[in-house]
Amino acid sequence: MKKLLGLFLTLIAFGSSAQGIAKKIIEIPSGDMKLTLMVGEDDRLYQLGFGDSDAEIKVPEKLPSREMEFLPCYGNGVITEAAIQATHTDGNTSTDLNYVSHRNEQFGNGVNQTVISMSDPAYKFYVDIYVRCYPENSMMEIWNTLRHDERGGKVVLYKYASASPIIKAKEYWLTQFCGRYKHEATMKEEMLSEGIKVLDSKLGVRANQFRIPSFLLSCDGCARENEGKTFAASLKWAGSFQLAFEVDWNNNLRVLTGINPVGAHYNLERGETFTTPAILWTYSDKGKGETSRNFHRWADSHSIRDPKKDRPIILNNWEATHCDFDEKRLVALFEDANKIGAELFLLDDGWFGNGEYSRDDDKHGLGDWEPSAKKLPNGLAHLAKQAVKRNVGFGIWLEPEMVNPNSRLYNEHPEWIITQQKREPILGRHQEILDLTRPEVQLYEWEIIDKTLSPSKDISYVKWDCNRYVTQPGSTYLTPSRQSHLLIDYNNNLYSLMDRFASGYPDVMAMLCSGGSGRVDYGSMQYFHSFWPSDNTDPLDRIKIQWGFSHFFPAKTMSAHVTRMGKRHLKLAIDVAMSGAFGIDLAIDRATDAERAQLAEGVRLYKSKIRSLIMEGELHRLVSPYETPLAALSYVAPDKDRAVVFLYQTEDGNVPTVRFTGLDTDKKYTVTELNLPEGEKSKFDNNLTFSGRQLMEEGLSNPLAKQFESAVLELKSI
Ligand code: DGJ
Repeated sequence: MKKLLGLFLTLIAFGSSAQGIAKKIIEIPSGDMKLTLMVGEDDRLYQLGFGDSDAEIKVPEKLPSREMEFLPCYGNGVITEAAIQATHTDGNTSTDLNYVSHRNEQFGNGVNQTVISMSDPAYKFYVDIYVRCYPENSMMEIWNTLRHDERGGKVVLYKYASASPIIKAKEYWLTQFCGRYKHEATMKEEMLSEGIKVLDSKLGVRANQFRIPSFLLSCDGCARENEGKTFAASLKWAGSFQLAFEVDWNNNLRVLTGINPVGAHYNLERGETFTTPAILWTYSDKGKGETSRNFHRWADSHSIRDPKKDRPIILNNWEATHCDFDEKRLVALFEDANKIGAELFLLDDGWFGNGEYSRDDDKHGLGDWEPSAKKLPNGLAHLAKQAVKRNVGFGIWLEPEMVNPNSRLYNEHPEWIITQQKREPILGRHQEILDLTRPEVQLYEWEIIDKTLSPSKDISYVKWDCNRYVTQPGSTYLTPSRQSHLLIDYNNNLYSLMDRFASGYPDVMAMLCSGGSGRVDYGSMQYFHSFWPSDNTDPLDRIKIQWGFSHFFPAKTMSAHVTRMGKRHLKLAIDVAMSGAFGIDLAIDRATDAERAQLAEGVRLYKSKIRSLIMEGELHRLVSPYETPLAALSYVAPDKDRAVVFLYQTEDGNVPTVRFTGLDTDKKYTVTELNLPEGEKSKFDNNLTFSGRQLMEEGLSNPLAKQFESAVLELKSI
């Protein structure tokens, strides 16, 4: 009904011209959310509403004040933070934008797009605002294009936000997902007060190490799972970003998001178009549980690669061997992979480099992508065949963007790295970043991928790693006036490379990895099936890390491997990894028989009962590890016939009941504990039947109370 009403309003809006001070009202609904704009009698574009699609929007009697402009520009009357700041070819530092026209475009599946064209009345400077709507998912994707036709040189863009909507509420609670290496996506919430709060990254490449470009905003108290007016947003950009939240003197909140303009002013040529990355916004009055599901559903329908393709169960060798292996050991591991039921062996770092540049540690060989003759005397294709012969797929690790100074490549092309001239290059993890603005580097990086994959159809998976960020953003290739474009061009070229890889090798699946959470953005995820949330695989820490990412990224995209990190019980490690794209990364050839049996049982369960729910189920976070000693989450099948529930004790202390959400009130569910260690009896109301209403209103009693205890429950309707 809401959707129909929205559509009706749009039709009215597009056909009508308003009266009084409003020349036009532009209503852009997308499911539960709506953006309402007004073209004032002064031709400026003002925002009247952003958020709840049912909110009553009144056309004001007087022109709104200038800080209500949808895309405020610097220097001609706007005194709040500007979204666009440009210096024109004659040196004028101000910009003013007037509405010119707008159009609506319909795509398939109800997806539609409104494009609003704006121009500066005094300059041939043009901005098009794009708002693409996915009504099924209450999602809006917003970005801008900027261009000019001014005589006399370049217009310098100092600020170029992707969007800058205004939210009006009594309170604004901001949740960021910050952290550091091995502590990614940690949730921190605060109430915003007057002034500007900026969350950013200046790292350029692998830019998300200290925070991801995603956030929540709650408008009526702290963000809650199942109630409350909540916005969630995520920027589709792998590079440096800036998220600025300005509460003004009228208690309005302006949210400016986009590429971080610090050190990145852009000299725009006449006729050239600058396209900002898009920001995704969703809204729900039912809390962050629903905004998370909006993101997941949208990702499934419109973003991630092969959403319906099962993520394979991987046996990875990094934690087990690091760079120290040979063909014999790998083939033995293939046998083991087969025995426990793993579907793919992922050969990690260390398989390349020869002679003095043999990749025996992280100081050597990056850049020299010939297989190691010492470790793999029969080559990669032969090795991949050995895996496939044993019914195990074969995947390979690549880090195409990087080079060690100890490599043949660096000796031949020291000028290919990103660094500032006249400065001593600074190393990060003993390596440098190749300058992707340079055409030879673009070609070289594509050839790394192509030469590795093309000789063998048996290589069906790539882990794309990236282990350092930029500290000296300079290029020996770019001209002086384009130096500040480096990190923008780098990331656009990176997307082109990823695109070339995904379209050149459509059957090769891929994991995006950056020494942990470096690169998790929806700009990149369209080329990948999963990402590596963190190098921290201690299950105790992973619970919170995966919890954070789950606010934006679906479970099937979160690679989660069982390792020995933290020396926890194998059961806890397995139970935690099973709540994502399950895999194993431990020396299985050195595991005891009992451990192998336990792993094999985990694999069997994941295949038979859990993976389908990870792939298709809807996430319901039930009990937060941020508030209690327990973490509980469930994935409910779309027809609500089945669900799997994961419970983890992160500390001592009992949460007596777990109340479910997302079930069918009228169905009856039998609760069965899965993955019980042999000989152990379930402490739950095992094999008993409850109605969906009981489970949601009264809850299920929870017997867990000790740190490290965990349980996996299956709910099946009868
Ligand atoms: C960082 C990744 O996160 C690890 O899983 C592993 O692939 C190493 N790099 C290899 O250098």
